[in-house]
Amino acid sequence: MSIINPWLIEEKDFIAAKDLRSKLNFWLKYAVLAVSAHNTQPWSCLFRDNSLFVYRNEGRTLGSDQTTRLAHIGIGAFIENLSIASKNWGYEPKIHITAFSPNELEVAQISFDKVAEATGREYLELFKVITARHTNRGLYMPGKLDEHLLNTIATDGEGTAKSFVITEESGRKRIGELVAKGTDIALSLPFMKRELASFIYSSRKPKEIGMPIESMIPGHLKNLIRPETAIKFMNPESLARENMKKYSQAPALVIVGTYEDGPAAWIDAGRLMQRILLRATTKGYSHDIAAGPIEIPTLLPILRQEIQPNTRPQLLFRIGRAETPSLSISSGRKAVII
Ligand SMILES: Cc1cc2nc3c(=O)[nH]c(=O)nc-3n(C[C@H](O)[C@H](O)[C@H](O)COP(=O)(O)O)c2cc1C
Repeated sequence: MSIINPWLIEEKDFIAAKDLRSKLNFWLKYAVLAVSAHNTQPWSCLFRDNSLFVYRNEGRTLGSDQTTRLAHIGIGAFIENLSIASKNWGYEPKIHITAFSPNELEVAQISFDKVAEATGREYLELFKVITARHTNRGLYMPGKLDEHLLNTIATDGEGTAKSFVITEESGRKRIGELVAKGTDIALSLPFMKRELASFIYSSRKPKEIGMPIESMIPGHLKNLIRPETAIKFMNPESLARENMKKYSQAPALVIVGTYEDGPAAWIDAGRLMQRILLRATTKGYSHDIAAGPIEIPTLLPILRQEIQPNTRPQLLFRIGRAETPSLSISSGRKAVII
């Protein structure tokens, strides 16, 4: 089966979209390029009464994501990309988060108003890089990042979510140690390893869901062994050491925290994160998310000490200039058509 490259979207094709439903189908091509844990893409959509209804896809919620927190964060990122795409064509989305309890499947209802004014320059810049953003899991070059970008990130917020930027060395080192512990703990759990293996594929046999092994293992080794075998033989201790270096050497770490906890806060966190990742992409920077220090209950309170005590960490990632840009690989996406 041949898979169309979801990262190649012809903007000019939008002209053919006459009604809201067709326009939405076009914007959804951008929405699905959002980040999600293990690239599960845990969303689904319905078009009803001229509105878009967004749902959590139970079948694509990770078994390890018992609280559904990770799935909601991914849906938040999806909503942010959708919002940016619609603004690019002069629409203003009215996003009503309906999710109240973690197990409810309906998450949001979104209506779109045509606005006379063109969208701000900033949103245009973010829109332009939606198709250029990819995770890079390699090392980042040390050094200072663009001050204006860091200030923008540090002062940005979305609903109940707020971001914190950590650039000083001691903070990066402390957090690097937490990421290392998280890696060691997660990869020592057979269930987590098996779950990860089930989401890895080789770019020679592309898939719509999951992650290409080439984005995880540099060099020729990746060509020699099957993806599942590679994960099986991953050594938690040596990967933990590598992650310690990657996170403490990165020029900036970002923690997204929320004043509340629950589905609405998780969606806010996902939206803010996606926007920050796009902002970083506009400057040519890469990013890499680490779930361990937040998902592992013993590490969360330690990470929390790095930010305002009244906020709960929801996301941790590093940003910087990648040493190996070839590790920024397009992962697959499944189209959403309403
Ligand atoms: C909530 C969340 C947690 C994630 N955790 C990790 C992680 O622990 N390690 C990692 O390498 N990537 C992590 N990612 C990144 C995803 O694997 C990545 O976004 C996805 O595979 C899609 O690839 P792309 O970002 O290149 O489009 C996470 C993403 C999200 C949204």
